Amino acid sequence: MADHNSDRCTKDDLSPGYWYQQRCLIAGGTNGFGLILAKTLCRYGATVMLIGRSADGVRNAIALCETEARTANNSTQQVHGLTADLNQPGEGERVVAHCLQKLGGCDSFFFCIGQSSRSAILNLPPNEIRRSIEANLMTAVEVTQAVAETVCRARGHLVFISSLAGKFVTPAMGNYAIGKSSLAAFVEAVRLEAELLGGHVLLVSPGPIARNIQKEPNCSFNRYDSEVVKHGLRDIAKQPGGGASLRLLNATRLAQEVLLACRKRAPELVRPKKAMLLAGFIAWFPSWGRKILHRYTSNAYQSTDEKRLLS
Ligand SMILES: NC(=O)c1ccc[n+]([C@@H]2O[C@H](COP(=O)([O-])OP(=O)(O)OC[C@H]3O[C@@H](n4cnc5c(N)ncnc54)[C@H](OP(=O)(O)O)[C@@H]3O)[C@@H](O)[C@H]2O)c1
Repeated sequence: MADHNSDRCTKDDLSPGYWYQQRCLIAGGTNGFGLILAKTLCRYGATVMLIGRSADGVRNAIALCETEARTANNSTQQVHGLTADLNQPGEGERVVAHCLQKLGGCDSFFFCIGQSSRSAILNLPPNEIRRSIEANLMTAVEVTQAVAETVCRARGHLVFISSLAGKFVTPAMGNYAIGKSSLAAFVEAVRLEAELLGGHVLLVSPGPIARNIQKEPNCSFNRYDSEVVKHGLRDIAKQPGGGASLRLLNATRLAQEVLLACRKRAPELVRPKKAMLLAGFIAWFPSWGRKILHRYTSNAYQSTDEKRLLS
């Protein structure tokens, strides 16, 4: 196993072998980007426990991760899974207790749960905003509190997958931004305490991620259709990133970058990189920065004239 007793990143830490036999808990590791991250960790020789809500999803993800481990010749490696809804009280503690019992500890925790949406905020029922906070923030709270001490003792990593929506508020994505920016604030608060105990905290803010529809039977490109109709938004709002002009990120490359950022003990990873510069620019020059942001985003809202024509 790699030596985690130093804050400095050695040459050894920068090789995938760093993850060999590390015990990793992956919340949301049964689908989408969490599954890509889990498969990458299995290829690098980590022992993983995957958490998702659907039993079929957990079984399928275990099989995919085992294949990945076998292909990489990590035949002795074990892949575990558990169904849990981390939005329910008590589930975070149950998941961590199960992980400690099965894996004998936990060196790193990856939180990959989140729920994007499309809406117009002025007409949105307050309950929908509550739901976004539950799906994007509350699912992280109990499980993080339960696992943090063990991970910090191992000088391991607490990794949270947020989104560019945690940095920018863009048309039709305000409710998602509320959920992700509250997750980002939670992560900063966790960082202040966890780093004192020796843990590393990484906040990942990616733009839209490309998906492989053949390899991901549960992936749907139509997930925003009904919301766009319900909120009277333009069709462009259905697109990844709400129609922002951004190239889709390669999921495997992003997973590798996340693991590299862990080994460097970096505080944040923002992709694409230019989004980080834009966030800084908006902070320094609020009007200019927003003008630049508007150039990259879609006009997802219909004008009053269009709405009248449609009604
Ligand atoms: N997709 C993108 O383009 C994109 C872009 C930027 C950021 N992100 C962020 O990246 C992360 C992954 O996104 P994704 O689109 O790849 O996700 P996804 O395909 O929707 O998968 C979400 C995973 O989380 C699990 N999950 C959801 N709610 C849960 C709950 N209450 N309790 C336990 N497990 C739960 C799901 O399990 P079940 O399937 O069993 O429910 C699944 O394993 C999210 O945080 C998302 O906000 C995504």
